[in-house]
Parts: sequence; structure tokens; C-alpha cells
Amino acid sequence: MIIISPSVLAADFSRLAEDVAKVERAGAEYLHLDVMDGIFVPNISFGAPVISSLRKHSKMVFDVHLMITDPIRYIDDFVKAGADIITIHYESCEDPLSVVRYIHSKGVRAAVSIKPATPPELIFPMMSELDMVLVMTVEPGFGGQKLIPETVQKVKVLRDYAEANGLKLDIEVDGGIGADNLYMLTEAGANVIVAGSAIFKAEDPDAVMRAMRKSADEHPYK
Ligand code: DX5
Ligand code: ZN
Repeated sequence: MIIISPSVLAADFSRLAEDVAKVERAGAEYLHLDVMDGIFVPNISFGAPVISSLRKHSKMVFDVHLMITDPIRYIDDFVKAGADIITIHYESCEDPLSVVRYIHSKGVRAAVSIKPATPPELIFPMMSELDMVLVMTVEPGFGGQKLIPETVQKVKVLRDYAEANGLKLDIEVDGGIGADNLYMLTEAGANVIVAGSAIFKAEDPDAVMRAMRKSADEHPYK
């Protein structure tokens, strides 16, 4: 079973709660919240106050993707805001594993993300301590980009390693994903699927999510 995590970056920020309620009604399990600081990525999105406001309106699992430099500085804020999963970037700090351990010490699930140019093998040594790995399928920073095909193989490398070592973690993919290309990623071993534009910009987000689930069912990890 795949988990769909709609990214609110593509929602209408003037009616965030309504847009979020729409995907929750359509059966999204997670809500993907992209935090950008204008330094780690060349864009600024929103921070903990927005997440904490949304928390009162939703029961979805809050999947917080931190695209910020030195994320350790803000973990407490995002825990307090109601994050259920906090993802930091491998490239954003000196010692990602210590940040992962800090997140765990707060009772929150922890994940590490890699940008398209970061080799997946760098994650192997810490994988047994992670709840999830996030493989970026576009350069982080903006919604609405095209998926970079070379990133698909990285998902496979990570899933094969996890299987070979008896690790049960989730593999999330993020960027340029919709019902038409999702199959490549589920076949490679991804099970948590982020989609921003494909869901929030659609006339019928419900239909898009159904099409995504159908495609995932027809294309399992092999
Ligand atoms: C990009 C973000 C993504 C983005 C995905 O840096 O991490 O979560 O919102 O948007 P789409 O699905 O439109 O590529
Ligand atoms: Zn994201």
C-alpha cells in the first residue's frame, strides 16, 4: 500500500485550511509541508507558525520537509508545531545522524533527504536509525518542476539495500510526480509519494489520488 502525501506548497495559501480539508476528505494519509529558508534552497516558503495553525484543522500525519541550513536550530519549534515526521537534508548540516537522534529524543519520526546529485550510498550507514529516506526527484526549492529520470535508480539502490539488510523503513519520493509517472517510482521501491501540483492544481484532486493508487497497485516493487 502506498501513502500519498500532498504538498501544500501548491495549495492556495489564502485558503490553506480549505485546500487541506479537501485532500484529507479525499483520503490523503500524510500532509507534506515544505519549509524553505532561502539559504539551503533559493526560495522561502513558510515556517512553524503556519504548521501549528494547520495542526488544529487536520488529523493527517504531518510530514515536515525541512529545506533549511543547520536544521538542529529549529527542531524544537517544529516538534511543538505538531510535526509527526521531520525530514532534514543530508547536505544541510555536518552531522545529520545527531539531528536524527535529537528528533527521535523528542518522540517524533525522523527522515533524511538527498538531493538529486547526492549518492544514495552515503545514507547506508545511518539507514537502520531512520524511519524514512526521502529521495528528491527534482532539485529542491520549487514546486511544478519535471522529474529527473536519473533519480529513479537511487530509489531502487536504497530499497534493495533495505531489503538485503532487513530494514523496514519508508522510502519517500518528492518532485514532479503525478499519476502518469508514479509507476516508475513504486516499481523502484518507493512507498510514500509526495505530489504538489498534480493534486492541488487538479480540477478533481480526489480522482488524481485514485489514479495514483491504481497505478501503484499495478506497479509494485520488483
Ligand atoms: C520541492 C518540494 C516539493 C514540491 C513538490 O522542493 O520539496 O515537495 O512541493 O511539488 P510538485 O509535486 O509540484 O513537483
Ligand atoms: Zn518536499
